[in-house]
Amino acid sequence: MDRNLALEIIRVTEAAALASAVWLGRGSPEGADAAATEAMRRTFDSINFRGTVVIGEGERDEAPMLYIGEQVGNGSDPAVDIAVDPLECTNSVAFGRPNAMAVIAIAPRGQLLHAPDTYMEKIAVGPKAAEAIDLRQSPEENIGRVAECLGYRKSNLTVVILDRDRHSELIARVRKTGARIHLIPDGDVSSAIAAALPDNGVDLLLGIGGAPEGVLAAAALRCIGGALQGRLVFRNQQERDRAEAMGIKDLEKIFHADELACGDGIMFAATGVTDGDLLKGVIFRRGGAVTHSLVLRQVSGTRRYITAEHYFETAPTY
Ligand code: FBP
Repeated sequence: MDRNLALEIIRVTEAAALASAVWLGRGSPEGADAAATEAMRRTFDSINFRGTVVIGEGERDEAPMLYIGEQVGNGSDPAVDIAVDPLECTNSVAFGRPNAMAVIAIAPRGQLLHAPDTYMEKIAVGPKAAEAIDLRQSPEENIGRVAECLGYRKSNLTVVILDRDRHSELIARVRKTGARIHLIPDGDVSSAIAAALPDNGVDLLLGIGGAPEGVLAAAALRCIGGALQGRLVFRNQQERDRAEAMGIKDLEKIFHADELACGDGIMFAATGVTDGDLLKGVIFRRGGAVTHSLVLRQVSGTRRYITAEHYFETAPTY
């Protein structure tokens, strides 16, 4: 895959972001998600590729569009697997909160883990502390090692954690270390990537979020060079059975980023919908809007931050 498909795919994440952004604060997660999904699906058709959705909106019987196994693109080469989250953080759009993005990861066939729709315990950092993290170790141990690697005092290290009841013990333990905590209402894809890039004000992601989101974040980190580890977390036997049916043999396994998104040729694109740790959200203005996107390409390591001005009169599909 030598073509920089991500530079074309960004039009798809931009379209999804623009379509869902009009739903900001309207109290409808379903409306915001449907708008993003419909725009993403429609815009895919104009891109020269054959994509198979491996992480998407769900199975065929539960999702009308971008379901797992669906073919997207205009049918020409290259043939790739894609992981999509048309609207990561539907609630953030519905209730006017941060961190929502439209996200796509692309890889040559067979390189993205077909993650079940379960939870995943995650730890993620940037390249400088990549060797320091170990999900088998305690949060205290990981915080100490990461702070040392980055040359920070613990009191200067910022740990990002999803604000959930299930994290109350984790939060208490992190507080005891003296580290700073950035609690997010949603959006651990954006925060995992922000932790891996310099100057975003967050250094380490800890806690339990979605497993498909873990694959998306891992794809981005494979391009950036940081580290992410994840272990599936099951709430019941049905989720265990589902994971096994999807080919996960060791349910206790700690997946490293290069097992969630393996091999070479990974690309990643995301466009902000609401302001977040990583990207600014959509800004509407007379006759158009401005979007902010990040495009990553593993083979070159290039990180492109793209600000696009959209004019609705000349691009009426938005
Ligand atoms: P959705 O867009 O699917 O709602 O995901 C938002 C999110 O915050 C993810 O970033 C995170 O991985 C997951 O939800 C956490 O799940 P839960 O909201 O059930 O704690």
